[in-house]
Amino acid sequence: MTNWSEIDKLTRVWLKESRKNIIQSFATILEIQTKANVNDLVTNIDKETEQFFIENIRANFPKHRIMGEEGFGDKFTDLNGVVWIIDPIDGTMNFVHQQRNFFISIGIYDNGIGILGYLYDVVHDELYFAKAGEGAYCNGKKLPLLSEGLVENAIVGFNAQWLVSNNYMDPKKLFPLIRDVRGTRSYGSAALEIAYVATGRLDSYISMRLAPWDFAAGKIIVEELGGIVTNLQGERVNLLETGSILVSKPGLHENIMQRYLKEQ
Ligand code: IPD
Ligand code: CA
Ligand code: CA
Ligand code: CA
Repeated sequence: MTNWSEIDKLTRVWLKESRKNIIQSFATILEIQTKANVNDLVTNIDKETEQFFIENIRANFPKHRIMGEEGFGDKFTDLNGVVWIIDPIDGTMNFVHQQRNFFISIGIYDNGIGILGYLYDVVHDELYFAKAGEGAYCNGKKLPLLSEGLVENAIVGFNAQWLVSNNYMDPKKLFPLIRDVRGTRSYGSAALEIAYVATGRLDSYISMRLAPWDFAAGKIIVEELGGIVTNLQGERVNLLETGSILVSKPGLHENIMQRYLKEQ
C-alpha cells in the first residue's frame, strides 16, 4: 500500500531544501540556455532542482515513475502506478528576469488519479497544497471552496501573446470574452495563475498550450476546491499531452464554454 503521508512528509522537506538552493542561486551567475526558441529559457537551477527531486524520489520510492519538464525523468506512454509530475521552476523567464513570480509544481498521481498537489511560491515561502478528498490549504490554512462566478465580474489570467496569430486557435474567437470580462492579468507562470484561481485572486485561467507539468499539481488543488479544469473544447485534460486549458470557478466555467467557446 502506498504510504501517502510519508510521501507528503518528504516532499515538503525537499521543497524547503530546494527553496534554500534557489534563493542562494540569486547571488550567483546563472547559466542560461534556450530551448524551443530564443525566449524559451532554461537555467542550471531548473535542471539542478529537477535532478534533486528525482534523486530523492528514486532513493526513497524506487517503484515510482517521474515526469519532469527538463527530461531527467522517465518516458511515458501511460500513467500506471504512482507518477510524480514535476515542473522544477514554472516561470523560468520570471526567475531569470525578476527573481520572483515563479513556482515549483509537483502533482502526484496514482493510476492517473490526482492524489497530492503542491504549488510552491518559492520567494514568498507559500505552499499551496491539496490531498484529494481532504481539502486544499495555503501554508496549512484551509482554503474555502470556490464560489460561482460571472463573466462580467471575472478577472481572467490570460497572456496577450495568444491574441496575435498562433497555431492553436483563431484568436478572434476570444475577443468577445476578453471584451466582456472585468479584467485580464498575465503573470507568466501557469502554476502561479492556477494557484491564484484556487485562492480567488483570479476567477479563471486560460492557455492555448500547456504541458502536463504546468498544470498537474494545480488541477488537483483547484478540483479539490470545486473548480473545473478542461481543455478549451470542454473535455478532460490529458496528462500525457500538451494542450489548451481552461481553469475556472464553477458556473463561470460553463458560462465561458457556452457563451464563447462552444463552437471550437
Ligand atoms: C511556462 C509558464 C508560462 C506558460 C508557458 C509555460 P516554464 O513554464 O508556465 O506561464 O505560459 O506555457 O511553458 O517554461 O517557465 O516552466
Ligand atoms: Ca520551460
Ligand atoms: Ca512550466
Ligand atoms: Ca519549468
